[in-house]
Formats: sequence, structure tokens, C-alpha cells
Amino acid sequence: MTDSLILVQPGPEHEAAILDYIAEHKAAGEHKLNGGLGDFVDYASWLDRCQREHAGLWRDPEWDVPSGVFLALRECDNRLIGLMRLRLGDSPKVLDFDGHIGSGIRPSERRKGYASQLLALGIAACGRAGMTRVLVTCDHDNAASEALLRKAGGRFEDTRMEPDGNLIHRFWFEV
Ligand SMILES: CC(C)(COP(=O)(O)OP(=O)(O)OC[C@H]1O[C@@H](n2cnc3c(N)ncnc32)[C@H](O)[C@@H]1OP(=O)(O)O)[C@@H](O)C(=O)NCCC(=O)NCCS
Repeated sequence: MTDSLILVQPGPEHEAAILDYIAEHKAAGEHKLNGGLGDFVDYASWLDRCQREHAGLWRDPEWDVPSGVFLALRECDNRLIGLMRLRLGDSPKVLDFDGHIGSGIRPSERRKGYASQLLALGIAACGRAGMTRVLVTCDHDNAASEALLRKAGGRFEDTRMEPDGNLIHRFWFEV
């Protein structure tokens, strides 16, 4: 059985865990990190932005909706298993390409059911924010993510092309 995950907002106490999480991805040859670390430069500025975003003091103009990054910690040992960004609103960029939930699982903890659990937690959080349906998307060539979304019961709607030509597959979930 997959151990339980809990969602927490990033704090100063998570610096070592985040740096280790990033290092593990780099060591695995993964340089594009999903779930809220895409533009990470240093911990202090990343944390500051996360905290202002959670407090509603700052919005990323890319989406222009209330949004926030959460750490998925394994409850039994506090290990950082994954990251998730929730986008709690409908802007053109959210609805066409990025969806309401973005997430990633650290390489050493994949294929254990954590992404499925994290997706369920994210959909529930969207529900608590008043949403009745949730969009989750993936790149056309991300077979793992597409398989995850289909297995979780996502309803495929269509494929849309980003301005740079990248194709995005869009899946809807009822809350
Ligand atoms: C995609 C990702 C989140 C899946 O995380 P995970 O914890 O391994 O997923 P789960 O263990 O919950 O897998 C659920 C199902 O998804 C499918 N799946 C997951 N990884 C897969 C893979 N590498 N190949 C094929 N199917 C896969 C399987 O159907 C799996 O069920 P099964 O293990 O019973 O066969 C993870 O590979 C990841 O973080 N990738 C990099 C970031 C990313 O792509 N994020 C998503 C962006 S939209």
C-alpha cells in the first residue's frame, strides 16, 4: 500500500529537502521540474514568492489566478515525495494549456502510487475552493503522465498547440 502524503506550504525548514529534491532530479538527468520549481534560482527568493503567493499578495501574471505550491510529504517519515501547484481559477493560459494542477514525483519514489494519491488530494483541494471540475494537462509525449491521468479517470477533451508548437493533451476530472 502507498504511504499517506500530506500537503504543506513551503517554509524555511524545507530548504534542505528542496535542494536534495532538485539534486536528485538533476542526477537523474531531469532538468525541467514540474509542480512549482520551474523557475527556481535560490531557496530564499523561491520561498519568498511562494509565501507571498499563498498569502494572496502576489500572482504570477502567466496565469493571473490564485495559485500556490505545496510540498507532498510522506506522513510516516516527512520525506519530500513530490510537489504540486494548484491554480484555482480559469484564465486562458490555465484553460488552454496548463490546467488547474501541476505536479511531479521525485525519481526514486515513482511507480508507487504517489502521483495518483497526489492528484486525488489536488482535486479534493480544488473542490474545497469551490470548483466542480478540474483540468489537468500533459505534454503530448509524456506517456507516464498521460497514463496516470487516464488511469485516474480523466476524460480526454482535446489536444491544443502552444505558441511554440508544443502539443498539450487536456483531461477533465469531476470533483
Ligand atoms: C508522471 C509522474 C507524476 C507519475 O508519478 P508516479 O508516482 O510514478 O505515478 P503512479 O505511481 O501514481 O502511477 C499511476 C499510473 O500511471 C501510469 N504510469 C506512471 N508512470 C508510468 C510510466 N513511466 N510509464 C507508463 N505508465 C506510467 C501507470 O498506469 C501507473 O499505474 P501502475 O503503476 O499501476 O501501472 C512521474 O513520472 C513524474 O513526476 N514525472 C515527471 C514530471 C511529470 O511528468 N509531471 C506531470 C506533468 S503533467
